[in-house]
Amino acid sequence: MLRHFGTPISDEMLFVVPDPRHASARRLMHPFLSGLPTTETVLRVVHAELGGGAPDAATAAAAADGSAPTRWLDRLDALAAAGTPVDVDDLMTEFTLGVMHHLLYSCAPGAAEVRATARMLLGLTADMMAAGGHPFPNLTGRALMASMRSTGDHFVAYVAKMEARRRSEYAAGTAAPTPPRDMLDVLLADLDKPGGAYEGDRRRVAADLLFYQLGGYDTTAHSIAWTIHALCDHPDVEARLVSELEAALPAPGTPLTSVHLAALPYTDAVWKESLRLFPPAPLGTVRKLDADLRLPSDGSIIPAGTTVNLPVFPVHRNGAAYPQPATFDPARWLPATAPGAGGRHSPADRRTARAHFMPFSSGPRACPGQNMAAVEAKAVLATLFRRFRFERVGASAEVVLDNAISLRPSGLRVTLHRREGT
Ligand code: HEM
Repeated sequence: MLRHFGTPISDEMLFVVPDPRHASARRLMHPFLSGLPTTETVLRVVHAELGGGAPDAATAAAAADGSAPTRWLDRLDALAAAGTPVDVDDLMTEFTLGVMHHLLYSCAPGAAEVRATARMLLGLTADMMAAGGHPFPNLTGRALMASMRSTGDHFVAYVAKMEARRRSEYAAGTAAPTPPRDMLDVLLADLDKPGGAYEGDRRRVAADLLFYQLGGYDTTAHSIAWTIHALCDHPDVEARLVSELEAALPAPGTPLTSVHLAALPYTDAVWKESLRLFPPAPLGTVRKLDADLRLPSDGSIIPAGTTVNLPVFPVHRNGAAYPQPATFDPARWLPATAPGAGGRHSPADRRTARAHFMPFSSGPRACPGQNMAAVEAKAVLATLFRRFRFERVGASAEVVLDNAISLRPSGLRVTLHRREGT
């Protein structure tokens, strides 16, 4: 739909651009999104945002003029001390927006800016969903299209501001384009490069920065919030998780590294099981078939050219792939002999589970940010569960699966309790 009737900024936006231009844009960003340096960058940003470490220069400057958000652990401690119930998904959405801003632009947005951006992104998502319901949105959904484009114009202006600031840092020698610190560095280098995927196309750069931001914040936030929800229902799983964190991690406040994360198989299994039951992108994948597809189930053929939607939600709850599919059971992702696995799930069970697990879709248009999301979510869960116990306000059944493109736990309110000795 977007490709035919116009996107907020550029029809070359990553999500809709056809091959081979899609593939070259993905290749360009791949090293930044998937390498070990990114893991360490995400961990450093999460640590700094939570308030566990020294802020970078830009954050310190923003704090000095009062525009920086309060450090997160201080804010959560205050909520715990007051016993105030909070919508933990809202909190995590604000948090992940700040983290994404760092990964895009290496600076912290002010608190008011985070809120304004969140409102704008939510409005944009709603407009795009609503425009999709119009067969000819340029005729029958003009107000929506205008609103979408005006949000796009705002982002173009915002990225121009970020670019100007970065170019003046390059000129002053206070920043260098390589190695890239963030996605802005990667895209500006390519914008300037003859023959680059983005050569000379500022609107495309702005469109993709917007899309990385849009794709990367609320999905990750929902995965954290859904995990908290599931652990409120499963104190045994929570106890196992906390004991893994206590055994594997250094003293609270010490920055986490990729080596620490690799030592948390149970935490990884808990997050995966939450993604299985509550996939943040539940509608999954929409693709146009470029060849006939024969269905293995009954041999019938879906002809080439058909648009096919493979929704993840029912696949992840299919009893043939996941025995007792409604049960939250992280052991599905662990070898039967691993601590916490309880001898359940054969190697064949685990192979089947993995083959059906597609929270990030698959193929060339699968999520490019999955490594980043995994690092961020697990670092946040590890830090929060070591420090707090979460108590849900109200019954589990009152939490509603609310799907506005991304699946959020609507109505999930919790109180936080500091753990003893932390
Ligand atoms: C738990 C967190 C996340 C989930 C569940 C998720 C899920 C997905 C899914 C299912 C797709 C594919 C949609 C399709 O098949 O058309 C996708 C695409 C995408 N995601 Fe994520 N995502 C997450 C985090 C992130 C992060 C952190 C980023 C930012 C770096 C990101 C950026 C993107 C982008 C740019 C695309 C479009 C890729 C393309 O069209 O080539 N996502 N995501």
